[in-house]
Amino acid sequence: MELIKAIQERKSFRAFTSDPIPRETIQEILKLVSQAPSAINLQPWEFVVVAGEEKERLSRRLIKAYKEKQISCGPGNVKPMPKTVTQRAAKTLEMMNPFFEEMKVDPNQFINEGSYNFYGAPVAILICLDDSFPKARLVDIGLVLGYLLLVAHEHGLGTCPIGLITAYEDEIKELLNIPENKMVVIGVALGYPDLKSPINRFKSPREEVGKLIRWID
Ligand SMILES: Cc1cc2nc3c(=O)[nH]c(=O)nc-3n(C[C@H](O)[C@H](O)[C@H](O)COP(=O)(O)O)c2cc1C
Repeated sequence: MELIKAIQERKSFRAFTSDPIPRETIQEILKLVSQAPSAINLQPWEFVVVAGEEKERLSRRLIKAYKEKQISCGPGNVKPMPKTVTQRAAKTLEMMNPFFEEMKVDPNQFINEGSYNFYGAPVAILICLDDSFPKARLVDIGLVLGYLLLVAHEHGLGTCPIGLITAYEDEIKELLNIPENKMVVIGVALGYPDLKSPINRFKSPREEVGKLIRWID
Protein backbone atom coordinates (compact mmCIF):
# COMPACT_ATOMS: atom_id res chain seq x y z
CA MET A 1 0.00 0.00 0.00
CA GLU A 2 3.02 2.25 0.25
CA LEU A 3 2.86 2.55 -3.51
CA ILE A 4 -0.65 3.98 -3.40
CA LYS A 5 0.47 6.48 -0.75
CA ALA A 6 3.45 7.51 -2.88
CA ILE A 7 1.23 7.94 -5.94
CA GLN A 8 -1.19 10.07 -3.95
CA GLU A 9 1.50 12.20 -2.35
CA ARG A 10 3.92 12.73 -5.24
CA LYS A 11 3.83 16.06 -6.95
CA SER A 12 6.23 18.33 -8.75
CA PHE A 13 8.25 20.63 -6.50
CA ARG A 14 9.46 23.96 -7.86
CA ALA A 15 11.83 25.10 -5.14
CA PHE A 16 14.63 23.06 -3.60
CA THR A 17 17.23 23.48 -0.88
CA SER A 18 20.85 23.38 -1.97
CA ASP A 19 21.54 20.36 0.28
CA PRO A 20 23.57 17.87 -1.72
CA ILE A 21 22.28 14.33 -2.28
CA PRO A 22 24.71 11.51 -1.45
CA ARG A 23 25.89 9.73 -4.57
CA GLU A 24 24.92 6.36 -3.04
CA THR A 25 21.31 7.58 -2.68
CA ILE A 26 21.14 8.54 -6.36
CA GLN A 27 22.73 5.22 -7.30
CA GLU A 28 20.20 3.30 -5.16
CA ILE A 29 17.30 5.26 -6.72
CA LEU A 30 18.49 4.58 -10.27
CA LYS A 31 19.03 0.90 -9.45
CA LEU A 32 15.39 0.62 -8.43
CA VAL A 33 14.24 2.76 -11.34
CA SER A 34 15.97 0.49 -13.82
CA GLN A 35 13.61 -2.30 -12.74
CA ALA A 36 11.06 -0.60 -15.04
CA PRO A 37 9.80 -2.79 -17.88
CA SER A 38 10.78 -2.06 -21.47
CA ALA A 39 9.99 -3.57 -24.85
CA ILE A 40 11.95 -6.83 -25.28
CA ASN A 41 13.90 -5.75 -22.20
CA LEU A 42 15.95 -3.32 -24.29
CA GLN A 43 16.34 -0.99 -21.28
CA PRO A 44 17.00 1.79 -23.79
CA TRP A 45 17.35 4.56 -21.18
CA GLU A 46 20.65 6.22 -20.33
CA PHE A 47 20.95 8.47 -17.29
CA VAL A 48 23.24 11.47 -17.15
CA VAL A 49 23.49 12.70 -13.56
CA VAL A 50 24.69 16.30 -13.31
CA ALA A 51 25.49 17.58 -9.82
CA GLY A 52 27.40 20.23 -7.90
CA GLU A 53 29.23 22.94 -9.83
CA GLU A 54 28.57 21.10 -13.13
CA LYS A 55 24.83 21.41 -12.56
CA GLU A 56 25.24 25.14 -11.88
CA ARG A 57 27.27 25.45 -15.08
CA LEU A 58 24.50 23.67 -17.01
CA SER A 59 21.85 25.99 -15.54
CA ARG A 60 23.89 29.08 -16.41
CA ARG A 61 24.28 27.87 -19.98
CA LEU A 62 20.56 27.11 -20.34
CA ILE A 63 19.47 30.44 -18.89
CA LYS A 64 21.87 32.22 -21.25
CA ALA A 65 20.43 30.28 -24.21
CA TYR A 66 16.89 31.08 -23.01
CA LYS A 67 17.66 34.79 -22.82
CA GLU A 68 19.00 34.66 -26.39
CA LYS A 69 16.28 32.51 -27.98
CA GLN A 70 13.31 32.92 -25.58
CA ILE A 71 11.82 29.43 -25.95
CA SER A 72 9.11 29.19 -23.28
CA CYS A 73 7.18 26.40 -21.60
CA GLY A 74 4.37 25.06 -23.77
CA PRO A 75 2.75 21.82 -24.83
CA GLY A 76 4.72 21.59 -28.11
CA ASN A 77 1.63 20.47 -30.00
CA VAL A 78 1.92 20.06 -33.77
CA LYS A 79 -1.72 20.93 -34.48
CA PRO A 80 -4.48 22.53 -32.41
CA MET A 81 -5.19 20.54 -29.27
CA PRO A 82 -8.65 19.51 -28.10
CA LYS A 83 -10.24 22.24 -25.95
CA THR A 84 -10.70 19.89 -22.99
CA VAL A 85 -6.94 19.48 -22.79
CA THR A 86 -6.04 23.17 -23.11
CA GLN A 87 -8.62 23.89 -20.41
CA ARG A 88 -6.83 21.54 -18.02
CA ALA A 89 -3.55 23.39 -18.50
CA ALA A 90 -5.27 26.76 -18.13
CA LYS A 91 -6.99 25.64 -14.91
CA THR A 92 -3.67 24.43 -13.48
CA LEU A 93 -1.99 27.77 -14.20
CA GLU A 94 -4.94 29.64 -12.75
CA MET A 95 -4.69 27.62 -9.54
CA MET A 96 -0.95 28.31 -9.38
CA ASN A 97 -1.42 32.07 -9.68
CA PRO A 98 -2.16 32.85 -6.00
CA PHE A 99 1.17 31.23 -5.09
CA PHE A 100 3.02 33.35 -7.65
CA GLU A 101 1.25 36.43 -6.28
CA GLU A 102 2.29 35.48 -2.76
CA MET A 103 5.87 35.13 -3.97
CA LYS A 104 5.62 38.37 -5.96
CA VAL A 105 7.05 36.72 -9.07
CA ASP A 106 6.06 36.82 -12.72
CA PRO A 107 4.60 33.35 -13.51
CA ASN A 108 6.22 33.01 -16.95
CA GLN A 109 9.61 34.12 -15.73
CA PHE A 110 9.37 31.84 -12.69
CA ILE A 111 8.48 28.77 -14.75
CA ASN A 112 10.86 29.40 -17.64
CA GLU A 113 13.93 30.51 -15.72
CA GLY A 114 13.04 28.07 -12.93
CA SER A 115 12.91 25.17 -15.36
CA TYR A 116 16.25 26.08 -16.90
CA ASN A 117 17.71 26.26 -13.39
CA PHE A 118 16.06 22.96 -12.36
CA TYR A 119 14.35 25.11 -9.72
CA GLY A 120 17.55 25.30 -7.72
CA ALA A 121 17.81 21.53 -7.23
CA PRO A 122 21.36 20.32 -6.59
CA VAL A 123 20.98 17.47 -9.11
CA ALA A 124 19.67 17.26 -12.67
CA ILE A 125 19.10 13.85 -14.20
CA LEU A 126 18.88 13.75 -17.98
CA ILE A 127 17.31 10.69 -19.53
CA CYS A 128 18.72 9.97 -22.97
CA LEU A 129 17.79 7.62 -25.79
CA ASP A 130 20.03 6.45 -28.62
CA ASP A 131 18.74 7.84 -31.93
CA SER A 132 18.80 4.35 -33.49
CA PHE A 133 15.54 3.63 -31.66
CA PRO A 134 12.12 4.36 -33.17
CA LYS A 135 9.75 6.85 -31.53
CA ALA A 136 7.93 3.93 -29.90
CA ARG A 137 10.81 3.61 -27.42
CA LEU A 138 9.81 6.96 -25.92
CA VAL A 139 7.15 4.89 -24.16
CA ASP A 140 9.94 3.11 -22.27
CA ILE A 141 11.49 6.45 -21.34
CA GLY A 142 8.12 7.65 -20.05
CA LEU A 143 7.85 4.54 -17.90
CA VAL A 144 11.29 4.94 -16.41
CA LEU A 145 10.55 8.60 -15.76
CA GLY A 146 7.41 7.63 -13.83
CA TYR A 147 9.41 5.16 -11.77
CA LEU A 148 12.05 7.81 -11.07
CA LEU A 149 9.52 10.31 -9.75
CA LEU A 150 7.97 7.74 -7.41
CA VAL A 151 11.19 6.12 -6.20
CA ALA A 152 12.70 9.54 -5.46
CA HIS A 153 9.59 10.41 -3.47
CA GLU A 154 9.96 7.18 -1.48
CA HIS A 155 13.52 8.32 -0.63
CA GLY A 156 12.23 11.63 0.74
CA LEU A 157 13.35 13.57 -2.32
CA GLY A 158 11.37 15.93 -4.51
CA THR A 159 11.36 16.02 -8.29
CA CYS A 160 10.14 18.09 -11.18
CA PRO A 161 10.28 16.70 -14.72
CA ILE A 162 11.74 19.39 -17.00
CA GLY A 163 10.80 18.95 -20.64
CA LEU A 164 11.61 22.55 -21.48
CA ILE A 165 15.36 21.94 -21.50
CA THR A 166 15.09 19.82 -24.64
CA ALA A 167 14.61 23.08 -26.54
CA TYR A 168 18.34 23.55 -26.00
CA GLU A 169 19.46 20.00 -26.63
CA ASP A 170 22.46 21.08 -28.72
CA GLU A 171 23.80 23.34 -25.98
CA ILE A 172 23.33 20.57 -23.37
CA LYS A 173 25.12 17.99 -25.51
CA GLU A 174 28.03 20.31 -26.19
CA LEU A 175 28.46 21.29 -22.54
CA LEU A 176 28.16 17.75 -21.16
CA ASN A 177 29.92 15.91 -23.98
CA ILE A 178 26.84 13.87 -24.81
CA PRO A 179 27.36 12.19 -28.20
CA GLU A 180 25.45 13.53 -31.19
CA ASN A 181 23.53 10.24 -31.60
CA LYS A 182 21.88 10.50 -28.17
CA MET A 183 18.55 12.25 -27.73
CA VAL A 184 18.03 14.16 -24.50
CA VAL A 185 14.39 13.18 -23.95
CA ILE A 186 13.68 14.70 -20.54
CA GLY A 187 15.40 16.25 -17.55
CA VAL A 188 14.44 15.82 -13.92
CA ALA A 189 15.21 18.21 -11.08
CA LEU A 190 16.09 16.17 -8.00
CA GLY A 191 16.58 17.50 -4.50
CA TYR A 192 15.15 18.13 -1.07
CA PRO A 193 12.04 20.30 -1.45
CA ASP A 194 12.21 23.76 0.10
CA LEU A 195 9.06 23.47 2.17
CA LYS A 196 9.16 27.16 3.07
CA SER A 197 8.52 28.16 -0.54
CA PRO A 198 4.81 28.94 -1.19
CA ILE A 199 4.85 27.28 -4.64
CA ASN A 200 5.56 23.93 -3.00
CA ARG A 201 2.16 24.06 -1.29
CA PHE A 202 0.55 23.86 -4.75
CA LYS A 203 -0.98 20.53 -5.74
CA SER A 204 -2.26 20.23 -9.29
CA PRO A 205 -5.82 19.01 -9.92
CA ARG A 206 -6.85 15.98 -11.94
CA GLU A 207 -9.70 15.33 -14.33
CA GLU A 208 -12.50 13.23 -12.97
CA VAL A 209 -11.52 9.71 -14.05
CA GLY A 210 -14.94 8.94 -15.52
CA LYS A 211 -14.25 11.57 -18.20
CA LEU A 212 -11.09 9.75 -19.29
CA ILE A 213 -12.57 6.30 -19.77
CA ARG A 214 -14.58 4.88 -22.62
CA TRP A 215 -15.95 1.51 -21.64
CA ILE A 216 -16.56 -1.00 -24.39
CA ASP A 217 -18.35 -3.99 -22.89
C1 LIG B 1 7.15 15.23 -19.76
C2 LIG B 1 6.99 16.33 -18.74
C3 LIG B 1 7.60 17.55 -18.95
C4 LIG B 1 7.49 18.56 -17.99
N1 LIG B 1 8.19 19.73 -18.16
C5 LIG B 1 8.11 20.68 -17.21
C6 LIG B 1 8.90 21.87 -17.32
O1 LIG B 1 9.66 22.05 -18.26
N2 LIG B 1 8.80 22.80 -16.34
C7 LIG B 1 7.97 22.61 -15.24
O2 LIG B 1 7.92 23.49 -14.37
N3 LIG B 1 7.23 21.49 -15.11
C8 LIG B 1 7.28 20.53 -16.05
N4 LIG B 1 6.57 19.37 -15.91
C9 LIG B 1 5.74 19.17 -14.70
C10 LIG B 1 4.24 19.25 -15.01
O3 LIG B 1 3.87 20.59 -15.16
C11 LIG B 1 3.48 18.57 -13.88
O4 LIG B 1 3.83 17.21 -13.84
C12 LIG B 1 1.97 18.69 -14.06
O5 LIG B 1 1.55 20.03 -13.96
C13 LIG B 1 1.23 17.86 -13.00
O6 LIG B 1 1.62 18.26 -11.72
P1 LIG B 1 2.28 17.27 -10.67
O7 LIG B 1 3.54 16.73 -11.24
O8 LIG B 1 2.54 18.14 -9.46
O9 LIG B 1 1.29 16.18 -10.40
C14 LIG B 1 6.68 18.35 -16.84
C15 LIG B 1 6.04 17.11 -16.66
C16 LIG B 1 6.20 16.11 -17.58
C17 LIG B 1 5.53 14.77 -17.33
